[in-house]
Amino acid sequence: MSYGLLKGKKGIIFGALDEKSIAWITALRCYEEGAQIILTNAPVAMRMGEINKLAEKIGAIIIPCDVSNNEDVHNLIAQSKEYFGGNFDFILHSVGMSLNVRKGKHYTEIDYGFNLRTLDISSMSLHRVLAEAMKQDALNEWGSVVALTYIAAQRVFPDYNEMADAKALLESVARSFGYHYGIKKHVRINTVSQSPTRTTAGSGVKGFDGFIDYAEKMSPLGNASAADCANYIVTLFSDLTRKVTMQNLFHDGGFSYTGVTHAVIEQMEK
Ligand SMILES: NC(=O)c1ccc[n+]([C@@H]2O[C@H](COP(=O)([O-])OP(=O)(O)OC[C@H]3O[C@@H](n4cnc5c(N)ncnc54)[C@H](O)[C@@H]3O)[C@@H](O)[C@H]2O)c1
Repeated sequence: MSYGLLKGKKGIIFGALDEKSIAWITALRCYEEGAQIILTNAPVAMRMGEINKLAEKIGAIIIPCDVSNNEDVHNLIAQSKEYFGGNFDFILHSVGMSLNVRKGKHYTEIDYGFNLRTLDISSMSLHRVLAEAMKQDALNEWGSVVALTYIAAQRVFPDYNEMADAKALLESVARSFGYHYGIKKHVRINTVSQSPTRTTAGSGVKGFDGFIDYAEKMSPLGNASAADCANYIVTLFSDLTRKVTMQNLFHDGGFSYTGVTHAVIEQMEK
């Protein structure tokens, strides 16, 4: 069902890899709500070709961009302004990558070279995109930027590895830049801390199946799905949330504030 919440709005969506991606599902939802969208992903991810199917469905163009490359980010913002014929209203940062996880390194033995790359791609990329958007004055007044994060930034989930540190940095960038962009142009910047979700990035976490079942049992409303997440992001891009900024917003069925549930106690007593 469409409420027309994003009618007339334009934005860039990073990170749609395949139909399970949170960004993919969010792009479909934003389109349903009336938005005009530009899709972007790393050139290497695009070789899979899946993103073309999404672009066709929602009448979007695709502009390749490796978020760790200054020139790519500069071109993305410049070309987006050109395509939209002016400024735009929202950006979804749905990007994450851990080299140490990929290489099977334990948290206590990470490679610092890989770690720098992880932080660059997963966290400082938000800064790079925002800085470029500010420099080119690309966002409209009361624009909205959302980045996706996970509660491992606040609490220990041992197998989340260096991504816990990456998410803590990402949330901090959202807060700090949110201040400056708020003052300058009323642009709001928030992170959404999503339940574990079965996607390519999600399933890269060791023991993911046990992890997602545990979160389900620990959430009074159950885990939030990618579709639920897309709905929430639509509200954050809409004009109904104009005074929400610099927040880390938990979207997790109540997991973050639950100490224990009867379902977990029953499991322990078995
Ligand atoms: N799946 C979960 O359980 C979960 C939970 C909370 C938060 N998140 C976060 O949601 C976001 C989206 O992940 P997802 O679960 O939809 O998985 P996904 O694998 O579908 O998306 C991750 C995206 O990051 C892109 N990416 C990686 N390196 C890049 C680069 N250098 N330049 C540009 N793009 C690059 C990938 O191509 C991919 O499209 C991530 O930030 C992830 O950490 C996921």
